[in-house]
Amino acid sequence: MRSLLFLVLISFCWVDHHAANFTPEPDRIIHIRESEPNFFVETEKTKIISQRGGNVTLPCKFYGDQASDSASHKIRIKWTKLTSNVRKVVPVYVEMGHHKKSYGNYQGRVFLRKSTANDASLVINNIILEDYGKYKCEVIEGLEDDSAVVFLDLQGIVFPYSPPLGRYNLNFYEAQKACLAQDAIIASFDQLFNAWKSGMDWCNAGWLSDGSVHYPITNPRGPCGGKNTLPGIRNYGFLNKAKGRYDVFCFTSHFNGRFYYLIHPTKLTYDEAVQACLNDDAQIAKVGQIFAAWKFLGYDRCDAGWLADGSVRYPISKPRKRCSPNEAAVRFVGFPDKKDKLYGVYCFRSYE
Ligand SMILES: *[C@@H]1O[C@H](CO)[C@@H](O)[C@H](O)[C@H]1NC(C)=O
Repeated sequence: MRSLLFLVLISFCWVDHHAANFTPEPDRIIHIRESEPNFFVETEKTKIISQRGGNVTLPCKFYGDQASDSASHKIRIKWTKLTSNVRKVVPVYVEMGHHKKSYGNYQGRVFLRKSTANDASLVINNIILEDYGKYKCEVIEGLEDDSAVVFLDLQGIVFPYSPPLGRYNLNFYEAQKACLAQDAIIASFDQLFNAWKSGMDWCNAGWLSDGSVHYPITNPRGPCGGKNTLPGIRNYGFLNKAKGRYDVFCFTSHFNGRFYYLIHPTKLTYDEAVQACLNDDAQIAKVGQIFAAWKFLGYDRCDAGWLADGSVRYPISKPRKRCSPNEAAVRFVGFPDKKDKLYGVYCFRSYE
């Protein structure tokens, strides 16, 4: 909690009963001291972990004379989301008395818990990937104003992505779109950092959500920053979002649906693969979905299958000969000619 400098003015009458010889004395004493502010906002947890589709409560309470005051309609509670740009905040929810307003894609998904008179906790239902990030709970009452920050983390998986055109073809805006098209969002630095801590090693640089370009190396080697370097996240810095062309790191989380390899009598071209999933009341699966199925369901299938972006991949959880002998991974075959009738298909049926 922040400590504020408070001026406490204490005035009293100074009476000298023994004023035999009169000396002027101050009738007022000014104390200047550091003290607990009489109004403050606190969060019992600074980090909440959830997943896509989950419901969360971001805790926040305010304390002070006002907290139990029946005049609580004068209290304004404001939730905003912080972004990597310190000057830019995104409005989430504002409440003052009967006036309640939620913003953007939070509409219909957020409300205050209000378990007690001083509870300003925010409930978010049906979490989406974009909800990831830091939230500020601000409570304003007259001249009093305090805030606390809660971080909403999501369980998920980071995967590197490059489009059919090949490596280093995406500017920042195209990178954002490329992730969205694969049921994912562009990853944050923290998400990439956590992936690196769990062993991610990837030698192509990719955009991150703050406009920086990085790549994670756990096994230092010549072409990836040098053999005699330390493992780490290699940093290209913040680059021109329109002109810089790199790959991208995408982030996705649990899905609400069924991911599966379609049992089909023949191998398929890309167009046949798209149609085969439609015929099965599903859609051709996206790259984010194969990664999520592999990570969260341990999906394992040694059959190369088409995916929505025209790539061919297969997910291996139990490494074995001829599939992925050395590591559990989503194997990438490539972006073959779409007319090649050589692969199966992975489909996704949404439950929403
Ligand atoms: C989230 O809350 C909604 C509304 O209360 C409820 O219908 C849904 O089942 C909850 N979801 C989870 C994952 O608990």
